[in-house]
Amino acid sequence: MAEALRLCVIPGDGIGQEVVPAAVQVLRQVLPQVECVEAEAGWGCFQRVGKALPIQTIETAKQCGAVLFGAVSSPSRKVEGYRSPIVELRRRLDCYANLRPTVSPPLPGARQGVNLLVIRENTEDIYIGEEESDGEVATAMRRITRLASRRVGEVACRLSRGKLTIVHKANILPLTDGLFRDSVREVAEAQFPRLELEERLVDAAAYELARYPERFDTLVAPNLYGDILSDLAAAWGGGLGMAPSLNLGESAAIAEPVHGSAPDIAGTGQANPVAAMLSLALLARSWWNQPEAADAIEKAVAATLASGVGTPDLNLPARCSTQAFTYAVLALLA
Ligand code: NAI
Ligand code: MG
Repeated sequence: MAEALRLCVIPGDGIGQEVVPAAVQVLRQVLPQVECVEAEAGWGCFQRVGKALPIQTIETAKQCGAVLFGAVSSPSRKVEGYRSPIVELRRRLDCYANLRPTVSPPLPGARQGVNLLVIRENTEDIYIGEEESDGEVATAMRRITRLASRRVGEVACRLSRGKLTIVHKANILPLTDGLFRDSVREVAEAQFPRLELEERLVDAAAYELARYPERFDTLVAPNLYGDILSDLAAAWGGGLGMAPSLNLGESAAIAEPVHGSAPDIAGTGQANPVAAMLSLALLARSWWNQPEAADAIEKAVAATLASGVGTPDLNLPARCSTQAFTYAVLALLA
């Protein structure tokens, strides 16, 4: 774990350029000793220098050990030489567990009582990018390993507050999803005997998350299911503009808002910076071991929202810009 707190700051594309500086301002208010080093990645970077994740960015990220990654735009058609830089960065830093908490937000009409954590395996599954096609038949390879399943399972057991739900589809994919399920179970039963363990098929988990989110504590899932279910869960937390995440490994962590580059609102100054701010709070708590700083950020954000101030996506009485919201949070932390 880093002694002198260094943060590699990667704004990326679109609203990443807007929410990242806002979140960094808030972080510096509570942890003024953090030293920030900016680096580039994304589609704009690819167009400028021919690489979506330049080698210097990887080096800076490794040296800092802690990263704030805004968002990047990815083309939905295949572009020669382009690979998603965040998928690549998670792999290069071996950040194998993706933590995505959802808590009932202090927003009018929001369902209360939700406090769940989706933990997504972050290095394999369908995201290994092995696809082929002859134009008529297209195939994608999906890889699940015992090692990756066990280590994400261990993080999930450690962070769970009492109950762990293993999500899979082992009835259809008994070899891959069966290996995931059995590996997590082995770790839980051997090392965390007091933990309550349950299983859900991914479709049933989606239904239950949409109907009874307060039933869940911690869910652990292979990469693709975790990606989808955590976005679904984010709806209970006030939407994508509010959803934080942390990618955790042994030697590095990447704080990353769940949302993308939001091209529909990029440049209007209206992006919600809460997801980025809360991602830095996760980083402060779970990587830098600075729980007071994390609490301070979370409380200031919650109090600002509770006072009715928020960006337009939240439909609060006092609609404000990214910057005005940030000033309101900073004022509470001063
Ligand atoms: P998106 O998350 O960028 O946007 C979805 C909707 O949510 C849009 O209407 C957007 O305006 C709204 N939204 C998202 N974040 C917001 C915020 N902070 N404040 C206010 N409104 C917000 O997802 P979309 O549209 O599917 O993808 C856009 C681009 O982002 C694509 O190029 C996609 O590949 C990329 N993407 C990147 C991710 C990453 O960098 N980790 C994750 C998801 C998508
Ligand atoms: Mg996603």
